[in-house]
Amino acid sequence: MMKNYKRPWLWLPASVSHSLGPFFLKLHGSFRSYKTYSWNSFEWRGLKFANRLGLAAGMDKDGAHIGDWWTLGAGFLEIGTIVPKAQSPNSGILLDRDNHLQALWNRMGFPSRGVESFKHTLSKYADRHHTPIFVNIGKNRSTPLESAADDYVHLINDLDLFADAFVINISSPNTQGLRTLLSREYLQNFLGPIIEKRNQIGTTPLLLKLSPDLSDQELEFCLLQSLKMNIDGWVITNTTLTRPKGSRFPTDGGVSGTPLANLSKEVLRKTVKILGDQRGDRLIVSVGGVMSSEDVFERLEMGADLVEIFTALIFEGPFFFKNAAHEYRTRHQ
Ligand SMILES: Cc1cc2nc3c(=O)[nH]c(=O)nc-3n(C[C@H](O)[C@H](O)[C@H](O)COP(=O)(O)O)c2cc1C
Repeated sequence: MMKNYKRPWLWLPASVSHSLGPFFLKLHGSFRSYKTYSWNSFEWRGLKFANRLGLAAGMDKDGAHIGDWWTLGAGFLEIGTIVPKAQSPNSGILLDRDNHLQALWNRMGFPSRGVESFKHTLSKYADRHHTPIFVNIGKNRSTPLESAADDYVHLINDLDLFADAFVINISSPNTQGLRTLLSREYLQNFLGPIIEKRNQIGTTPLLLKLSPDLSDQELEFCLLQSLKMNIDGWVITNTTLTRPKGSRFPTDGGVSGTPLANLSKEVLRKTVKILGDQRGDRLIVSVGGVMSSEDVFERLEMGADLVEIFTALIFEGPFFFKNAAHEYRTRHQ
């Protein structure tokens, strides 16, 4: 049973504790002596990961704290989702938390300061990056699906200097129609110009973030089609539109945390199986319902190269990265 008195922020409304997070992150960064947690280190395409546990997209959408996360022990960061033009969040309630289910619900819809402001932030902090930075990119709400690829091409062109890898996000449930881009009708035409642009300007890896709500056939199609087009890896998964038993969350918006764990693990298991030997050195990042160090190690054993957390930081607190490092070292002494 979770002890809320040890995590006083869980008594606060979700939106309030969410907005206090950055303040405590800064405070932590200014007090501690810096040290990267090295455990189960990993190298991929020239990128060095001191450890395989990173921050999932959505926590630091504009990269405002890009210089601070590593002080908590994150092995890498996924910043974003970034969109080309500044936009506000969806209207109405955006975030809720269920302490009993250990779940978050959100319908943010890519609030973003836009790419110009993001570039400024990244250039300011460039010399303070201590971990690989993945930049998660999306489309503006106002961009029609037919020209969605233009937004991603624009972002890759503008941000190539700053990103160690791009994560193409077409799996958020909170931008209308976005997930349609994963379908047979759209995926090839959508990915084509994006991959072409990347090939023109460099070699920064492109990863595709998938939804946990795909049918087996849809998952197989997305994986094999993107593999054929030479994508460099996958981030699995985003939040789910399914609802756990006893949930009081609205029917729109995405659920994360414990209720997502089994879905996300199933997608990982199927992905490893579908790709088989064709996977080569392509990267698999597992995210969704990773709530303990045990869960991190399980995802790695299942075949993920890297693991990310979001909701666990809310329920378990900022020492999650440190605890995982400690747990790993204890097991491997
Ligand atoms: C409040 C909130 C905002 C999020 N924003 C984004 C986002 O902007 N882009 C994205 O790709 N995923 C976003 N996500 C999804 C997470 O990156 C992650 O895929 C999902 O929460 C599952 O991981 P978890 O169970 O560890 O939270 C968001 C999740 C939450 C809870």
